Amino acid sequence: MTDTENSAISEVPSSLGLDDADPALVAAVVDGLGKVEALLRSVVHSDVDFVDQAALHLVKAGGKRFRPLFTLLCAQLNDGDSEQVVAAAAAVELVHLATLYHDDVMDEATMRRGDASANARWSNSIAILTGDLLFAHASRLVADLGSTATRVIAETMSELVTGQMRETVGPRDGDPVEHYLSVIAQKTGSLIATSGRFGAMFSGATPEQTAAVVRFGEIIGAAFQISDDVIDIASPAAESGKTPGTDLREGVRTLPMLYALADGGDPRLEELLAGPITDDEDVEDALTRLRKSPGLERARATLDEYATAAYAELVSLPECAARSALELLTRYVVARTR
Ligand code: IPE
Ligand code: IPE
Ligand code: MG
Ligand code: MG
Repeated sequence: MTDTENSAISEVPSSLGLDDADPALVAAVVDGLGKVEALLRSVVHSDVDFVDQAALHLVKAGGKRFRPLFTLLCAQLNDGDSEQVVAAAAAVELVHLATLYHDDVMDEATMRRGDASANARWSNSIAILTGDLLFAHASRLVADLGSTATRVIAETMSELVTGQMRETVGPRDGDPVEHYLSVIAQKTGSLIATSGRFGAMFSGATPEQTAAVVRFGEIIGAAFQISDDVIDIASPAAESGKTPGTDLREGVRTLPMLYALADGGDPRLEELLAGPITDDEDVEDALTRLRKSPGLERARATLDEYATAAYAELVSLPECAARSALELLTRYVVARTR
């Protein structure tokens, strides 16, 4: 590995709670992440300058690499990383990246990973096309992993997109909290579960272990989205790398908002949350009210419940450094909202 690649890895902005994990495990995972990083860059590279620039834009902007890390950790439950595990980890990050390019168009977001979003920097068309290109790159990597993996990733993408579409149309007459929880399982839980499945599948896990990792991934994935939605309200841009209040501007009602509305203690907040908020001062007002509302704490309590359910899935796995690291990862998903 070159020095440049090494420094790129040490620049990953968060240790995702693994500071206290087993040092040998961390070394193996960091080594795996380095290989994933190199593969991502070579797969995404284009000889057409502009395409290269647009497609590498968010790859280079960083991000937590949560999904590939999860793949690598799950592989460490058994044989550790093989070329297939590394390719699978890169593929899930590419699918994630593609959805971010598209999501920022849908959410009219201008900031991503601490940099300008592709739609803001270039245009919606460029962002959509780049997202499509990254889906194609992911498909190419997964095709080499066999027909089962190809089917799994196709099913995952259809789940994820269904979740995004259901979020877009909203709960209609259904229960909004139920709708929210099923949408986040689809749009975020599905890919994180598949990230774990691939790690298990390509490292010699038993079917029982794979099933446990998938259930854990579904829960931790949904929890990760709840924490993301808390962060959209509670954290400054400098921490999240995104503009706070994006969900408010887009009229997407996330769990803290739904709980705040159910509480009914702030009529002005209800008025503000009735639709997308366009005025900057109104966004600030809604954020201030939400930060004080019981909705935020109640969403954190739901997050705790998800974490408890996630820990329960780990019990069936053999006790080892990788399992302990998955516990730490669960703790991180909760702790990042505090
Ligand atoms: C953001 O995902 C979108 C969600 C599903 C919450 P991440 O928080 O993993 O984004 P990056 O990869 O670190 O930029
Ligand atoms: C991200 O969703 C995209 C997917 C989960 C497919 P969000 O819109 O909730 O996430 P951020 O806050 O923009 O990263
Ligand atoms: Mg978004
Ligand atoms: Mg969105």
